[in-house]
Amino acid sequence: TSKLRILGIETSCDETAAAVVIRLPDGSAVTEADVVLSQLDEHSAYGGVVPEIAARAHVDALDTLIEEALTRAGISLSEVDAIAATSGPGLIGGLLVGLMTGKAIARATGKPLYAVNHLEGHALTARLTDGVAFPYLMLLVSGGHTQLVLVKGVGEYERWGTTIDDALGEAFDKTAKLLGLPYPGGPAVERAAATGNPKRFAFPRPLVGEARLDFSFSGLKTAVRQAAEGIAPVTDQDIADICASFQHAISRTLKDRIGRGLQRFKETYPDVAEPALVVAGGVAANKEVRQTLDTLCAEHRFRFVAPPHHLCTDNAVMIAWAGLERMALGMPSDDLAVAPRSRWP
Ligand code: KG4
Ligand code: ZN
Repeated sequence: TSKLRILGIETSCDETAAAVVIRLPDGSAVTEADVVLSQLDEHSAYGGVVPEIAARAHVDALDTLIEEALTRAGISLSEVDAIAATSGPGLIGGLLVGLMTGKAIARATGKPLYAVNHLEGHALTARLTDGVAFPYLMLLVSGGHTQLVLVKGVGEYERWGTTIDDALGEAFDKTAKLLGLPYPGGPAVERAAATGNPKRFAFPRPLVGEARLDFSFSGLKTAVRQAAEGIAPVTDQDIADICASFQHAISRTLKDRIGRGLQRFKETYPDVAEPALVVAGGVAANKEVRQTLDTLCAEHRFRFVAPPHHLCTDNAVMIAWAGLERMALGMPSDDLAVAPRSRWP
């Protein structure tokens, strides 16, 4: 195949993003533009993402961001070979904005449209950044998702584990809210935990010891609330101790759950010489979480692959790349009648 240029669009949550990625004839890829506009300031007063505000902010920003991405890449719309837009899962208003924009560009330029599953974007990013070969295991831990996925090939995924209640990032956010810390909660909890005693509170470690590979974090949140209610007045040191104990419980939970996943991978694929665990999602920024996974991988002789932070969180490079992977394999593009899907496992 010759050089392929693709425009990526991401609008599924509270980041508006556009990117231009090029695939060279030798199969390698170059990111020519990677533009992300976070709506954090517009949502922080509400302590979470407000869907209607998000959709309107995507409408306001997307055209300008696409223009900026094209300018940075030094190309015009007519030089793009394809368009890839997130079509789910996510907030339906935002998905409509991005997918409709992608369709309009595809219609006007006559170029193919790839409607991309957001989770597939996260799952394939490590192939762009680290050239990871199939099959591999991927842990996605963000504000909306907690999934352990077996990535067998482009379009071939098996979900081995998921949360039965809150996502891991959501547990951080809710814990922060309970303790009066700012949104988003993850970074705030991590900061507070740095000076806390992780052994002061024995928080629950849900599903630890069970053979299934699922996660559960809502009980942890309840335990945090009870701990905070049991102290009056709550000092900064109490908050630090709660945060440290909370992170410690999460670290132990991940160690057990993911450790079982790695074991299962080895049993499923005994011949894979260098198995890999890939992480994605905002929670992957957490140092204790990273350290836990890194150590666990070393114990199990897995390669631990953590793409750079800006490609672990929501971005359009991963959407463009997922489109390129399909293109390179000659997989069909999508019909312009394709509809966004707020739920899409
Ligand atoms: O992937 P992401 O940026 O956005 C989506 O959820 O789509 O993930 C955001 C989540 C939030 O729940 C945030 O609290 C969490 O990632 N997060 C962290 C840290 N930084 C972000 N959680 C723990 N420790 C962090 N340092
Ligand atoms: Zn995401």
